[in-house]
Amino acid sequence: MSDTARLEYDGTSYDLPVVEGTEHELGIDITKLRAESGLITLDPGYGNTGSCTSAVTFIDGEQGILRYRGIPIEELAEKSSFIEAAWLVIFGTLPTQADRDRFTSILTEHSMLDENMKKHFDGYPTNAHPMAILSAMINTLSAHDPEVWETKDDESIERAAAVLMSKVRTIAAAAYKSSVGEPIVYPRYDLRYAENFLHMMFSKPYKDYEPTPAVSRALNLFLLLHADHEQNCSTSTVRMVASSQANMFASCSAGVCALWGPLHGGANVAVIEMLEQIRDGGTSVEEFMRKVKNKEDGVKLMGFGHRVYRNFDPRSKILRKAADDMLTELNIQDPLLDIAGELAEVALADDYFVERKLYPNVDFYSGIILRAMGIPLNMFTVMFAIGRMPGWIANWKEIHDDPKGRIYRPRQIYTGPVDQHWIPRDQRG
Ligand code: ACO
Repeated sequence: MSDTARLEYDGTSYDLPVVEGTEHELGIDITKLRAESGLITLDPGYGNTGSCTSAVTFIDGEQGILRYRGIPIEELAEKSSFIEAAWLVIFGTLPTQADRDRFTSILTEHSMLDENMKKHFDGYPTNAHPMAILSAMINTLSAHDPEVWETKDDESIERAAAVLMSKVRTIAAAAYKSSVGEPIVYPRYDLRYAENFLHMMFSKPYKDYEPTPAVSRALNLFLLLHADHEQNCSTSTVRMVASSQANMFASCSAGVCALWGPLHGGANVAVIEMLEQIRDGGTSVEEFMRKVKNKEDGVKLMGFGHRVYRNFDPRSKILRKAADDMLTELNIQDPLLDIAGELAEVALADDYFVERKLYPNVDFYSGIILRAMGIPLNMFTVMFAIGRMPGWIANWKEIHDDPKGRIYRPRQIYTGPVDQHWIPRDQRG
């Protein structure tokens, strides 16, 4: 296998180094191409651009493989927890008992918000979207905690990471409480990560919420499965902001904004809306599928297909089982799950989907799990953000720790007008 690629242009040839990853992925290094030839590469949407090398997460979309720091997602889902997986994603190894104890104690210690921060919640209108509150409040956290501007070593990064992961959960629950006009609930120090979130979401001043083990397990799993997914839109955003040496909180707040878009974090909402439409509109699964295949009015089978996975999204298999288990254990009969099951059965046997390699993605089942937990639709993307925080932090850390790091600054091919001049206002057509 050659370690250079040759590009010919205008009678000159350029040798470009080929870089190989640990999973034998190959990339052509074009960093010197412009200096040598005046050419840049053009790839709108970055569909074929490696923006970095990264040691956090590996995906093989053809084979449906997802690994955090080399460990298959299936193994972590079965044996690990969100917090352990978060530490693995951020620091690169499974935590020792001492690491685990230290990280957990920082998480617990920092679960409460500064009392002054509560005033900010009062300033948002009722029904403010919780993603707007979440991104703004993460930035506000950095105003309250200037220590995070000076993360120099792993110890200070660990502290900042635990503070952020802990407080994000409290902010998310508080954003929800404000949006429904209920008092903010304080965290409890005896509860674990997922349970504490559910407590702050659903406890009321007159009644504590006690999650069942099935619900806690499913939430833990949901968060673990969302912990990282290599260079997606929000993670790339976090890296872009981090490359200017912005602090961890500011960078992750930008990640929340990127995740908010319906093409990224909003798909699990679209799945539930699609299932509700089928249920309420009285459309049969067959009729709906006919519309999808005829591309009528742009109708798509939401929760199917993925830019990277051309096979089963491994997360969807795990979540499907978790959804089944949770609904059985809680004895919930959800007609939406029946519709989802029928849609999946029809799609997986249909040539349209088979030929295009369209399989259920993580969002197909995550919406059902969140709905069964009682999480309202406008909080779905917030839940994704809580889960994705370790991945954003890990990618921020890679940028932070890179001694050769440079600010991200892509180039462009300019297509606007050339050589124009300013015209006085009264002479403009
Ligand atoms: N329903 C029906 N047809 C589909 C679907 C779908 N869900 N997804 C893709 N197709 C069709 C396309 O129309 C295209 O058809 P054509 O060849 O006749 O033109 C073909 O399958 C190939 O699709 P691509 O264009 O290669 O898909 P792309 O990679 O651009 O998009 C995406 C991927 C956005 C996820 C798409 O599959 C989709 O819109 N799915 C539904 C939304 C969704 O579930 N998004 C969540 C993604 S996971 C995540 O973000 C966490």
